This record gives sequence, structure tokens and C-alpha cells, in this order.
Amino acid sequence: MYKYHRTQKYDKRFLSQNFMGPNAMLMLDEITQSIELMKGMRVLDLGCGKGLTSIFLAKEYGVQTFAVDLWISATDNYRRFLQMGVDDLAIPIHANATVELPFADEYFDALISVDSYHYFGNNDDYFEKHLKPLIKKGAPVAIAIPGTKQEMNGTIPDELKPFLDDEGFATLHCIKWWTQILEKHLDDFSIKEMDCTDTAWSDWLASDNPIAKRDIDMMKAENGKYLNLISITGKRR
Ligand SMILES: C[S@@+](CC[C@H](N)C(=O)[O-])C[C@H]1O[C@@H](n2cnc3c(N)ncnc32)[C@H](O)[C@@H]1O
Repeated sequence: MYKYHRTQKYDKRFLSQNFMGPNAMLMLDEITQSIELMKGMRVLDLGCGKGLTSIFLAKEYGVQTFAVDLWISATDNYRRFLQMGVDDLAIPIHANATVELPFADEYFDALISVDSYHYFGNNDDYFEKHLKPLIKKGAPVAIAIPGTKQEMNGTIPDELKPFLDDEGFATLHCIKWWTQILEKHLDDFSIKEMDCTDTAWSDWLASDNPIAKRDIDMMKAENGKYLNLISITGKRR
């Protein structure tokens, strides 16, 4: 059973204003309970969005966090890191994870990715080609993603068609599908539906974000049948 006392310390309004999907901090709180992070480690926070996860990593674990994102600018995240007093530990970087990540080989002691890996890592080559070189052997890896309870192979269920497009839905897969993609790269591989699934979704739906307002009807139509959140942890092989 997971406890989320770390996330509970943060201002709910600040979190809600910076959500881009299901509560990223709660998801991170859960996945980091299954890996070992130590002060001074160099961590790649890939697809960090508005940096909530990087703030958490810096504050809660004292790790040096490279906060990489595509849609959110480095300046935008830098301002948030200053506001939260973590600009010494969280380094904002604007980069596309599918092109070339601007880091030295074996630079990172850990990889974290919350609610973003499904956009760029949902294929057989990504981890091997783009991430494995950057992460030290044996380094902890923790990924949290939205997924599906059973494999849908990109077919949107009728009830969800009004809310989703083919491209977005094609990024969502089940536990068995993700196991085939990532198990071969990780020792101590573990994959499961996240305990925080319901709370992380409800926190998002309660936020003022216009996309969340639209997702309320989607989650009503979904009615617990298809969508979940999936955690994947292990150590880089
Ligand atoms: C739904 S948002 C989640 C953001 C954040 N992790 C969170 O949970 O609040 C997905 C994030 O994935 C990032 N992303 C998608 N494709 C990317 C890529 N090719 N390279 C880097 N980041 C990417 C986007 O920039 C976006 O911020």
C-alpha cells in the first residue's frame, strides 16, 4: 500500500494550476517508492511538462534533475523552479526526446518519466536507441503512463469516440503490450496498474484546465471500463 505524504505537503492550488493530465506529483510519489534515489544523483526527468515532477525530485530527494520537455519552454520552467526555490537543483531544458537528447553517454544515475513516455517511447527502438546510452548500467528507471486495461490496438471504443482522436489513442496500451516493449531492457522489471489511478484522474478533472473540463465527460463515458495508469520500474540492464 502506497502512502502519498510527500505530495500532501504541496499547495493544492499550485499543483492544480500546473497539471497537464492526471496528478503528476502523485504518480511520481508512487513510482519513486519502488526505486532508490539518493541525494546528489543526476536524474533525467523526461517529458517533465511544467516541471512538477522535477520540483518534487529536487525537494524530496535532493537529486540534480535535468527537466526536459518539448511543449513547455525552458524559461517557463526556470521561472517555476525559481518560485519553488529549486533552481540550484532543477535544470530546465527544451528538447525533443525523439531527435537528439543533448547529454553525454552514461551521464544519468536515474531516469524518470511521468505521463509522457507513451508519446515518444511507444515502439521497439526508442529505449535502446535514445535512452540506454545516456543512463548508467544498473541505474533506476521509473515510468508512469496512462494506459488501457486491455489492449485496444488503436481502436477507440464507441463511447469514447466523441472525445479522442486516433493519434492520441494510439499511444495508449495495456500492461502486456508495455511488458513486451520494456522488459528486455530492465532488470528487476515490475509493471502494474497504479494504486493512485482514481485519485490522480479525479485531481486532474477537478482542476480549472479547460482540457480537464472536457475530460470530465470523457471519464463519465469511460465509466472505469478502459483507461488506467501504469507504472513501470526496474534497473537499466
Ligand atoms: C500530458 S503532458 C504531461 C507533462 C508532465 N509530465 C505532467 O505529467 O504534468 C505530456 C508531456 O510530454 C512531453 N512530450 C511529448 N513528446 C515529447 C518529445 N518528443 N520530447 C520531449 N517531451 C515530449 C510534452 O512536451 C508534454 O509536456
